[in-house]
Amino acid sequence: MQIPDNAPFSPEQRAALNQILASFTPEQQVWVSGFFCGVTSGSLPAVGTVGAAAPAELTILFGTESGNCEELADKSKKIAAKSGFKPKVVNMSETDSKKLSKVKNLLVIVSTWGDGDPPDAATEFYNEIMGDGAAKFSDTNFSVCALGDTSYEQFCETGKRLDKRLEELGAKRIYDRQDCDLDYEEPWEKWLDGALKAFPVEKPAAVAAPAGGFATLAPGGAAYSKKNPFPAEVSEKILLNGTGSAKETLHLELNLEGSGLQYEVGDALAVVPENRDKDVQRVLKASGLSANTQIDGKTLADALKTDFDITSLTSRIAGKYNEFAKNKKLAALLDPTKKKEFAEWAWGRQLVDLLEEFPCKNISMDNLTGILRKMAPRLYSIASSPKAHEGEVHLTVAAVRYDSHGKDRVGVASTYVADMVDGGDKVPVYVHSNKNFRLPADPGTPMIMIGPGTGIAPFRAFIEERQATGASGSNWLFFGDQHYTYDFLYQLEWQEYLKEGALDRLDVAFSRDQPEKVYVQDKLRESAVDLYQWINDGAHIYVCGDASRMAQDVHTALAEIIAQHGKKSPEDAEAFLAEMKKTKRYQRDVY
Ligand SMILES: Cc1cc2nc3c(=O)[nH]c(=O)nc-3n(C[C@H](O)[C@H](O)[C@H](O)COP(=O)(O)OP(=O)(O)OC[C@H]3O[C@@H](n4cnc5c(N)ncnc54)[C@H](O)[C@@H]3O)c2cc1C
Ligand SMILES: Cc1cc2nc3c(=O)[nH]c(=O)nc-3n(C[C@H](O)[C@H](O)[C@H](O)COP(=O)(O)O)c2cc1C
Repeated sequence: MQIPDNAPFSPEQRAALNQILASFTPEQQVWVSGFFCGVTSGSLPAVGTVGAAAPAELTILFGTESGNCEELADKSKKIAAKSGFKPKVVNMSETDSKKLSKVKNLLVIVSTWGDGDPPDAATEFYNEIMGDGAAKFSDTNFSVCALGDTSYEQFCETGKRLDKRLEELGAKRIYDRQDCDLDYEEPWEKWLDGALKAFPVEKPAAVAAPAGGFATLAPGGAAYSKKNPFPAEVSEKILLNGTGSAKETLHLELNLEGSGLQYEVGDALAVVPENRDKDVQRVLKASGLSANTQIDGKTLADALKTDFDITSLTSRIAGKYNEFAKNKKLAALLDPTKKKEFAEWAWGRQLVDLLEEFPCKNISMDNLTGILRKMAPRLYSIASSPKAHEGEVHLTVAAVRYDSHGKDRVGVASTYVADMVDGGDKVPVYVHSNKNFRLPADPGTPMIMIGPGTGIAPFRAFIEERQATGASGSNWLFFGDQHYTYDFLYQLEWQEYLKEGALDRLDVAFSRDQPEKVYVQDKLRESAVDLYQWINDGAHIYVCGDASRMAQDVHTALAEIIAQHGKKSPEDAEAFLAEMKKTKRYQRDVY
């Protein structure tokens, strides 16, 4: 911050002010700007009595699965406090409509999961507030920030529904809902700024942070973050599957030394990938644009490689494209009453197919880049404990490859890791904290871990951590994949842990080693008596891996086991699992 030359000060005053301003922390800068703003607007009574009026209370309610909304809620709290509010953060898992309806000023930050569902831990709150018995919100001002991903049909659905429901229940929307895509920081910042200003409250020392001022406060002091990923050197890359396997799962070791990045077991690492050259060339060819056109100081080819998502194809992208392509057939396909037809057409297709099948002459660079999302980082569950591998982070990555509609296709990040980087290369990464997937606080608590496929990753970290800390709790692991011979990920490590006693029990399900398919949920049922005993003894249950089928099948098996062996009705067994979720004894990290 510098006083400009044309400011109404003498050169001596300017020099003195610049000297003192340079010594301010970002927090002090914001405070001072708000203080003078209050003085000049006459809202401050007199120096020395600042803050005498009671600050307006503000509740920041969040619902999260993988931690983004919680992180934004915490940041919102800091910013709101500096704006003169008395804010508190509340997790949806710990409230209900009755408690919440008493709140005067409410900000809601919530994500959408599954197929338009609320985050796991927010489900009970969500069902209750949507239900007939929900309390009335006659005295509440509110605004909602919804997190989601435009590649899902039910974009930001939970936020949209909660926004509507709060209004139905009588609350007053003081600022429009903000729907955010994966790149949520900027829209959240703008929403928060607008919403804080819109609350009809008197703020004692109104220190509304100036636009753009949040950035200095946001990263929480971390030098490397989402905005500034750390180039981590690949120190090891090992193919975990044996010859003959249909799978390609990689064990990756990255060097974090000197980054200052820290993680806990249960966290994920975000990888910022690049598109493969073949996909860049395909898009350039289909659009007819020259690779060397300049955009923001680089060639279009380079920008398409690193800055944009050039593979996703959603109805939103196709809709924006048709605003200038004006293709009648595409318009018919995009008819809002024919969502299913569009989804069927888009399955297995990418942006390049849109450009090829509905060509547009004279497409400009701005046209093309205007329809694209920014490149999205991908999350990978961390497979190592920092206590066992100081300065390193390990990942277990399954390469995505398939053929469709006459083209070979690849998953961007998984094949960036598989094909484009090797030992010595650097991968941009940052740590994505996940407070919802943590070891039991008591090291003596038993754990049941269910992690087929790459779902095994965080459990390698859990066992390493428990061994390194000498935790006494028993550990039971369920793993599954296609074939024992090729796909038993980290087999030698598990056998060693069994020998050493770090792992008490290991049950495996190899689906294709016998005529009938066997999955981890079948193994749970086979061991139902012991499993129920472990649960009764206070075990925590962890599930990681496929969200679309495995997590649901495992949940169903657990509910059946609890009903049968706990002599409960199916409803009571579900309620039992819901209570386990609430008390963090049943945690899932599914994708
Ligand atoms: C919290 C969390 C933890 C995770 N942990 C891990 C982990 O430990 N290990 C891991 O490997 N992954 C993990 N993932 C998943 C990971 O983030 C990526 O989603 C995954 O690697 C695919 O990314 P990609 O960039 O390679 O593929 P993308 O470029 O994102 O492409 C994937 C898309 O390709 C399409 N597609 C894929 N296969 C086909 C097919 N056969 N036919 C038609 N279309 C298809 C689908 O539309 C799919 O959505 C995790 C995800 C989350 C959210
Ligand atoms: C398995 C999975 C399912 C998802 N389903 C949806 C969805 O239906 N709609 C949507 O808008 N976003 C969806 N998302 C995106 C998340 O809402 C988004 O990543 C969000 O930033 C997560 O915030 P959180 O960490 O606070 O939960 C999904 C993400 C994953 C990994």
